[in-house]
Amino acid sequence: MLGSGDDGRDDYDITATVSWHALAAHYSHVYALHLRELFAMDPDRGSSLVVDAGDLHIDYSKNLVTGETLELLMSLAREAGLEDERDAMFAGRHLNTSEDRAALHIALRLPREAELVVDGQDVVAEVHAVLDAMGDFSDRVRSGEWVGHTGEAITDVVNIGIGGSDLGPAMAYEALRHYRRDGLRCHFVSNIDPVDVLSTLDELDPATTLVVVASKTFTTLETITNAIAARRWLLDGLGVTGDAPEVVAKHFVAVSTNADEVAKFGIDTDNMFGFWGWVGGRYSVDSAIGLSLMIAIGRDGFAEFLAGFRAVDEHFTTAPLERNAPVLLAMIGIWYSNFFGAQSQAVLPYAEDMARFPAYLQQLTMESNGKSVTAVGRPMTTTTGTVYWGEPGTNGQHAFYQLLHQGTWLVPADFIGFARPTDDLDMSDGTSMHDVLMANFFAQTEVLAFGKTADDIAAEGVPAGRVPHKVMPGNRPSTSILAPALTPSVLGQLIALYEHITFVKAMIWGIDPFDQWGVELGKAKAGELVGVITDDEPPADGHDSSTEALVRWYRAQRGR
Ligand code: F6P
Repeated sequence: MLGSGDDGRDDYDITATVSWHALAAHYSHVYALHLRELFAMDPDRGSSLVVDAGDLHIDYSKNLVTGETLELLMSLAREAGLEDERDAMFAGRHLNTSEDRAALHIALRLPREAELVVDGQDVVAEVHAVLDAMGDFSDRVRSGEWVGHTGEAITDVVNIGIGGSDLGPAMAYEALRHYRRDGLRCHFVSNIDPVDVLSTLDELDPATTLVVVASKTFTTLETITNAIAARRWLLDGLGVTGDAPEVVAKHFVAVSTNADEVAKFGIDTDNMFGFWGWVGGRYSVDSAIGLSLMIAIGRDGFAEFLAGFRAVDEHFTTAPLERNAPVLLAMIGIWYSNFFGAQSQAVLPYAEDMARFPAYLQQLTMESNGKSVTAVGRPMTTTTGTVYWGEPGTNGQHAFYQLLHQGTWLVPADFIGFARPTDDLDMSDGTSMHDVLMANFFAQTEVLAFGKTADDIAAEGVPAGRVPHKVMPGNRPSTSILAPALTPSVLGQLIALYEHITFVKAMIWGIDPFDQWGVELGKAKAGELVGVITDDEPPADGHDSSTEALVRWYRAQRGR
């Protein structure tokens, strides 16, 4: 293992390793190889560079790697001590160094009979106690047994949260549209922009609305502000005066680690679903943060969702590195980021129901791996993090794929698709629309990889002046991730796949993927600036000339 110190990572510098230097030398030999050549050299490449993880069938053959590249990447992973770090995470070691705590989201999906004692706590028993409480509660809401102040059953659930307390359940609720209970809708409010809460609540009847206030800390400005607004809306709408805790108790529940703040807000802690400091916000969709999702898809659906995570956890912990999907995809990602200089990664679900998946992955990957220092605080000697972005196919094809096909940036792309549709229609000639969607998926990955040469285009009689414009260079890497259908289990598998890809990259770079100090200063500054913007007499100085001028302009527009 690299470096020295207790966990062997004090002097960690991945760029000083033998494997890193070997990869740099290898890069100078292979960077110009074209996927056309790689496929010509190995006609079986399309069936050999594939890996199955749970129900996920992953083809990584259209990536810019040779057999030797993969061997060197696996050597790098071994030299970085990846297997030890992985096992340490699963055992609950404090890998979140800057906050001195474990990152144990994997415990959220362990089976009831498993055992994991961490810091003296039997975490599996605690996880299942909360899952049982969530299950009982969602059964009551779904069956209509849980009623609001007027005795009516709940028809609408509003999840108020932000970041990890919003993106996961919001994304999964959309993705699992076909598994939701009819007549029960969920809504997600996150932004401090009042439009978000107002436009959501305007459509709802307070008598039949349940609000889930989801916040790990229960101190997040956006969430608490929106929750206060929702409580006012509820009490006004029901014609109730005062704080009316007995009314609030029937319409508000909390998901949090902070019982004191929950009680202070006025939510009965009997109606609080807990989780733990060792669950990071962006790793929490499978904790009580998933309560609104569980209400929508039921406790059995949620159990299937957790089983999906577990299947990929098992694969990640048992498959040899060379056959390990998260390891392969993460190491290929490192190859592009650190050797080819790629800055971004497109994620392109060919499934409208997965529209929010790229946004979900943005928090998971970018809040985790956007770091400039190692886990022990030493400056990084190479780049970290990747900008994740994307839109469902085929919409993206008519927007940004032009840049993917002919632009000057290298943008590796993950294509995600499903064999069985969630919905299908016959076109006028009887062809299934889903088949046409998937034909586009396969066509795009083929064109990205192989393109079309100037000779082929000229041979079609295209005027010479136009040939360079029509050349499709190809050699644009993509990974195809296919699954039989978008089920709760498959969604859990996809999330776990990207959780572990994120983890592997972090361990190679030697950073702490479980903290997010970079979001704090902006929160503090916003708090200061609220006063500057709204006070009758704002303080004369304290900010830079640009910010002061902007604030002056804004105040004038607001008549201050
Ligand atoms: O954006 C910072 C962050 O702390 C995220 O990591 C987290 O998911 C989000 O805010 C919400 O935090 P909380 O669940 O404590 O309200």
